[in-house]
Order: sequence, then structure tokens, then C-alpha cells
Amino acid sequence: MSKKTIKDIDVTGKKVLVRCDFNVPQDENGNITDTRRIVGAIPTIKYLIEHNAKVILCSHLGRPKGEVKKEFSLEPVQKELSKELGIEVKLANDIVGESAKTLTQNMKEGEIVLLENVRFDKREEENDREFSKELASLADIYVNDAFGTAHRAHSSTAGVAEFLPAVSGFLIEKEIKFLGEALNNPKRPFVSIIGGKKVSDKISVINNLLDKVDTLLIGGGMAYTFFKAMGLNIGTSLCEDDKLDFAKELMTKAKEKGVKLLLPVDVVVAKEFASDAESKVVKIDQIEDGWEGMDIGPETIKMFEEVLKEAKTIMWNGPLGVFEFDKFAKGTNEIAKMIGNSEAISVIGGGDSAAAIEKAGMADKMTHISTGGGASLEFLEGKKLPGIECLLEK
Ligand code: 3PG
Repeated sequence: MSKKTIKDIDVTGKKVLVRCDFNVPQDENGNITDTRRIVGAIPTIKYLIEHNAKVILCSHLGRPKGEVKKEFSLEPVQKELSKELGIEVKLANDIVGESAKTLTQNMKEGEIVLLENVRFDKREEENDREFSKELASLADIYVNDAFGTAHRAHSSTAGVAEFLPAVSGFLIEKEIKFLGEALNNPKRPFVSIIGGKKVSDKISVINNLLDKVDTLLIGGGMAYTFFKAMGLNIGTSLCEDDKLDFAKELMTKAKEKGVKLLLPVDVVVAKEFASDAESKVVKIDQIEDGWEGMDIGPETIKMFEEVLKEAKTIMWNGPLGVFEFDKFAKGTNEIAKMIGNSEAISVIGGGDSAAAIEKAGMADKMTHISTGGGASLEFLEGKKLPGIECLLEK
């Protein structure tokens, strides 16, 4: 990575403002249901404590739109962090107000203060210069470790870097290493699996990947737009009619570039969109009216597995079926198992793909699962992320 990290700067005795992405899912009782983003931030925090820094953490949680709302408080995160670190993390009840100033003024080395949700102030998302300056005034150094929010140009993710020496934490460094290496210097054959509901969400990613991969496997709801573009009947399956031309162009482009593009050859269709819906396996040219595509079929699983067996690098973004319903999670689960047990470098885009792999029980077997949903997508599209661009060059 060309950007400086916390290892390139002396943090001893310094107040270090660390932007993390603690935007974690919670159940109706406020319990955190997936701690990966908190766990992902621990190496940076530990390093700073071990090097006698005074650590000031900040993050957003949800989209409170500039209002202070209890359900978006970082209190559950403070508790989880204290547990993970085995050290008490103090929570300020504001961001740059009295509470934050008092708690951060007389910090001792190794102490940790967490500021309240930065989106409780509407100036955060406006990337307001004054707000960035106020945030910066709490610290001597800025560390961005919020990969999941690196695609946002907000005060705490980018603006603050104008006022403090700005470096990256270990999580951002790790994300760039795995996503960047897979994308730009992959061991070949390089196979990418793209799924998810909509073609429109993945257009830029697919366009970027076509220049890099050897084989592209397409599954999930977006496959039906391709089937329709091929002139097939797709029943009531998902389809973006305004993307039919894109689908056709993509198939031609793949051929021209020598990329093998594989679509499912059979699918599981259901009578309705429900977890217990009547279902059957059909070939893709046998989808009848009134039936909806829910998963890839057994022949497709076999075909994808044959390709994945040979792969040296696998990049996966987007589930291959309606994995939220157990009955239609088979395709996603089988492919997850296959990748988990393969020797290939496996890099998984965040968001839905990460949730699907977690559900399949294969999370520990992947080389890297990104903590970024939107951010990893933009990275794979080849876009520059403001939260990374703002950091000092080595
Ligand atoms: C995410 O969960 O993708 C990040 O935390 C960014 O959240 P946002 O989409 O609300 O900016």
C-alpha cells in the first residue's frame, strides 16, 4: 500500500483519533448480532495502546440524520469493545462537546475514549470544515481504520485529514492488501463469482472485472436478466428490462476479451416468494409462467465447482440465490463450502456475501472477508475511496 500506516508515525504519548466502522447490526433489544467490524478494529487499537498512545475512537452507527437518537447510540459498541479489549472504554455523550473535551483533555497513555455517534451532528455527512476542525482539535494524529465507510467523504472519514497527520490503521491496510492483490496481481486462474439481485448494482464491478478475470460465474437474481436477454422465458423471476442491452453487450464483450462467462444451466424455481414455497429444478429454457427463480440448480453447482477447483484466486460478491430462506440456500452454501475447502486465495466482498458465508458456517475458512459492503463494491469497481485518498503517501 502506498499510504502511511500507524507503523510509519510515532504515536507515543500522542492523542490519536481513530475512525472505525462500528456500524454493526443489532437485534430489537439492541444486542449486536455481528461483531466482525468491532473485532476487525482491535489490532489497531491494541497496537496504539501498546505504544502508549491515548486513543480516541469515533464511528457512525446507522443513519440518524443529524439527530441524537438513543437507538443509534454507540453504548452497545462501548460495552462490546471493553469486553474484547479487557480494558474499560469510556463513552463520551457527545462528539465535540463538553463531555468529549473533558474526557479527552487529561487522558493517560493507554486510555481509550469513544466519542458518540458522529452522525448525531448533521455536519458530519456534509463534510463540514468547521466540524472536521473541531474533531481534529481533540487529537494530534488521525488514523482511518473504517474501511466500510471509506467510500464516504465525510468529516470523520476524510475532512479531518486536512488538519492532522493522517495514516491508515491495520484493517484498511489488510483490506487493500487482499482486495487490491486479488484485483491487480491475482494468482491465475482468477475466477470471480458475481451474484445478488440486481444487474444494475454490479455493472461497474463486472466491467472492471472483465479486464482482470479468466472466468466470470454469474448467479443470483441478476442471472434472469441475462436469460431474458438470451430470449428465454423467465416466468415471474427478477428482471431489469432496462439492462437487457447491457447483458447482451457484456456477453459479447466477454467473448472479445477471451473471458469465459458462465451462467447457470439449471435453476430452482418456486410458485411464490416464500420460505416454504412449492419448488422444482428446471433447465433454464424450461421456466414456466408463474414460476420464480430462487436458486441455482444442481447441474450449475457441479459446473461452477469444476471451474472453482482449478482456480488459484477466487473473488466472490453477491449470493447465488435467496439464501435467507434455507430451502433456497443450497447453491450459495455448496459453493461457500467448496471455496472454503479449496487451496485458492478466497476474497469475499462484504455485505450480503459476507452474511451468506457466515450463515453457511464457512467464514473462518476464507482468506479474507471484507468488512465493507458499499466500500468493497466501489473498490472492486476501481474507484478511488476518499477515506483512503486523504491519507499521507509513504
Ligand atoms: C456500511 O455499512 O456500508 C457502512 O458503515 C456505511 O454506511 P452508510 O451506507 O450508512 O454510509
